[in-house]
Amino acid sequence: MCRIITVANQKGGVTKTTICQHLSYLLAEQGRRVLCVDFDPQINLTSTLLPDGQAVGMDISGVMACLLEDQDLPVPSSYIQRCGKADLIPGSKNLGKLETSLLTEMGTERFLQEILSPLRAHYDYILIDTNRAASPLMTNALTAADSVLVPICPEFYSTEGLSDLIASVLKNRRRLNPHIQFEGIVFSRCNLRTNLYRTTRANVETAFRGEIRVFKTAIPDTVKVGDAISRGLTVMEYAPESKASSAYRAFAKEVLASETERAPAEGCTIHVLSDSGVRRVG
Ligand SMILES: Nc1ncnc2c1ncn2[C@@H]1O[C@H](COP(=O)(O)OP(=O)(O)OP(=O)(O)O)[C@@H](O)[C@H]1O
Ligand SMILES: [Mg+2]
Repeated sequence: MCRIITVANQKGGVTKTTICQHLSYLLAEQGRRVLCVDFDPQINLTSTLLPDGQAVGMDISGVMACLLEDQDLPVPSSYIQRCGKADLIPGSKNLGKLETSLLTEMGTERFLQEILSPLRAHYDYILIDTNRAASPLMTNALTAADSVLVPICPEFYSTEGLSDLIASVLKNRRRLNPHIQFEGIVFSRCNLRTNLYRTTRANVETAFRGEIRVFKTAIPDTVKVGDAISRGLTVMEYAPESKASSAYRAFAKEVLASETERAPAEGCTIHVLSDSGVRRVG
């Protein structure tokens, strides 16, 4: 059964795109059929996954524009590109321009869901890379998703973005997508020996115990990841013996392990961390 996972955090630079790149590679390596969707106007995922950074066919903004103009969906082969082991619906900077139309036109929240639903039969995982803003694009990405994967980096204020995102997901669950779940929170770009990492992790685990899974694996902070990306590679290809490579493999294993143990979304109470402590938001 296909799982659509939106990778999101309203805080920038927390490795959303890097996680999409690496997780898609590892899931495909394990024989899963994987599609990535670059739903961020920065198009970092497209630039990373396509050798020359250029989409050959239509990109996701073109497909969204068809729906805005009440046209039929184009055939998937006109906008899905093969890149390595996975497939990609590329992004484009036009996504940014499209946002205004999404805001002003009625009933646009389900456009991405409409585009991805027919593709469920062809993939085991669809990973959506998102931008950092609470925007009509984010609403679409949450409405289309089965679950939200939240990367966080252990920094001062890192839980601020987390609280905002969780509030957005819960609002989306109430208003648009009652089935949306949390895939989990993954710590990324971590210096594992610091007190900041240990304290942030302990706080997050305490706040969400029994509500949102916190992945055991943390992705370490290392220049090897940036080096790999700059060569259009994953760290598993560039530095297979590195700690980051092993961590990404362990993280993908955790994601795959939960294929058999998915719980229903309803009925949980969610607390979030804020400066003033832990508070309930849903
Ligand atoms: N494990 C890591 N160690 C060190 N640097 C990393 C690691 N993972 C990613 N990076 C680097 O961190 C930066 C931010 O990563 P990335 O672009 O994936 O974040 P993002 O959340 O998608 O950002 P944005 O909000 O702008 O979309 C990039 O320069 C990337 O190369
Ligand atoms: Mg990004």
